[in-house]
Amino acid sequence: MTKPTIAVFASGTGSNYHAVYKAIQKKELTCDLALLVSDQPTSKVIEKAKEHNTPYFAFQPKEYSSKDAFESEILDQLRIHKVDWIILAGYMRLIGPTLLQAYEGKILNIHPSLLPSFPGLDAIGQAFKAGVKITGVTIHYVDEGMDTGEIIAQEAVKVLKDMDEQSLQKKIQLVEHQLYPTIIQEVITQSID
Ligand code: GRF
Repeated sequence: MTKPTIAVFASGTGSNYHAVYKAIQKKELTCDLALLVSDQPTSKVIEKAKEHNTPYFAFQPKEYSSKDAFESEILDQLRIHKVDWIILAGYMRLIGPTLLQAYEGKILNIHPSLLPSFPGLDAIGQAFKAGVKITGVTIHYVDEGMDTGEIIAQEAVKVLKDMDEQSLQKKIQLVEHQLYPTIIQEVITQSID
């Protein structure tokens, strides 16, 4: 049986890209990581992709006339690499109709809060400032909205009294790095059955 193929989209540090990469190495995640896509050519995640020999496509959105123009080029890359699933991991842009139509039901995102609470930017900071005692991580399908797609999985994280925003972020990221590969595996396997 051929393994499904994924592309990870990321804009920043790439710790979730790295967690996915490692899970594949350990064979906990049985898919091929065919491509990393980034809208930030100088980001850390590109350095990581180079280290791990993951093929990458990095682009500058401002060099394109529209979202459709750069998404069409991404789509060409995805087709060249025969990508089945798009895994968003800190990709700081809304996905537009070009990719949504081509990959309907095949785009996942991870968000560092218990959606629908605290969507959008700085979810951890938003939760911390709101003083909630429980926040967490959500993995969801992607639609045209900002963190609005159907929820697939969630894991709660307690905000303890002695925590600051930084320690909360660390705890949330530890959960992300476990949960995302596990759920990607579940979703991809189900889609084959
Ligand atoms: C993660 O917290 C993820 O939930 C959010 O963006 C962050 C990306 O972090 N969507 P990293 O680049 O994977 O370290």
